[in-house]
Amino acid sequence: MFADATTLMLELQHQKPFTPKQEPVRPCFAENFNPECSTIKPVQPDRHTLADSHDMPIVVGLREVADAPDASCLDWRTIMTKRLYADLSEWWPLMSPPADYAKEADEIDHLISEAVPDARRILELGSGGGHLAANLKARFDMTLVDLSPAMLAVSKRLNPDCRHLTGDMRTFRLDESFDIVLIHDAIMHMTSADDLAAALATARAHLKPGGIGLFCPDCTLESYEPGTSSGGSDGQGRGMRFLEWDQPIRPGDNRYRVDLVYLLKDGDAPVRIEQDGDDFAVYAQSQWLSMLGKAGFSGVELHLVSGREVFLAGAA
Ligand SMILES: C[S@@+](CC[C@H](N)C(=O)[O-])C[C@H]1O[C@@H](n2cnc3c(N)ncnc32)[C@H](O)[C@@H]1O
Repeated sequence: MFADATTLMLELQHQKPFTPKQEPVRPCFAENFNPECSTIKPVQPDRHTLADSHDMPIVVGLREVADAPDASCLDWRTIMTKRLYADLSEWWPLMSPPADYAKEADEIDHLISEAVPDARRILELGSGGGHLAANLKARFDMTLVDLSPAMLAVSKRLNPDCRHLTGDMRTFRLDESFDIVLIHDAIMHMTSADDLAAALATARAHLKPGGIGLFCPDCTLESYEPGTSSGGSDGQGRGMRFLEWDQPIRPGDNRYRVDLVYLLKDGDAPVRIEQDGDDFAVYAQSQWLSMLGKAGFSGVELHLVSGREVFLAGAA
């Protein structure tokens, strides 16, 4: 069923790069807060244990935030990061509404049906607010894993019928196997090859024989284009708009800076402006193929799903 990874890699090397996708790169959270600030205390990540997320503290990167951070004692570049997955997570449904994922979910469903017709159980790593899951759960039994309790709380409200677990996709282990392991717009947070390898190993470890991994990065090195994008929507008594600015990939690096400004309107209160940002990573298609092979995937197909490159990889 699957093309041989080496053959595909050779084919890809002779292919023209994929057409860059049109959708904006999705914004995300980022680096650490300043540990000198009294409202913040370093915390060890809960590397191997799972917990239902509703009573977990807010986690930003690998730090626990005791209270709302006091911006006056924090460097702008460290504070203005990853807030979307922490104190601003409630705005995610307006920033990227669940309905916007319907077409992509249909295409992913189609890919799965072709590759594993009787697939039932999906493990999604980095499931965020559960917007993609909301469009897949009618057909699949979804287990949703995310590092951010705040995002899991958003997802739980939308998907009370899905199972939610707190975990880091690099280290998460559950003594269960699945037909499909999916990583959607979260893999750009794997900012080193070691992190990406660890996330792929997690995916591989949870697949049944004959199952598939579906990896949906925002873009690859071939398709990435710096630029700006904007969006947002209105909800009940609230509205949000954002502007996102994606910088060029740093020379000699695979990372680029994403800066974000949010305009937040809550009821009749004046519009509030908040800043956020992160470093995202991209990998070349050939790096993907090589790392998937090293993680134990036996074959790889590259698909375009709603303009996004999707790597479909089989469990040997
Ligand atoms: C853009 S959001 C995903 C949105 C999601 N596709 C949806 O449908 O709502 C990216 C998510 O990746 C999560 N994330 C980042 N690093 C992670 C890690 N190491 N392990 C698990 N989740 C992670 C973030 O907490 C965030 O919720």
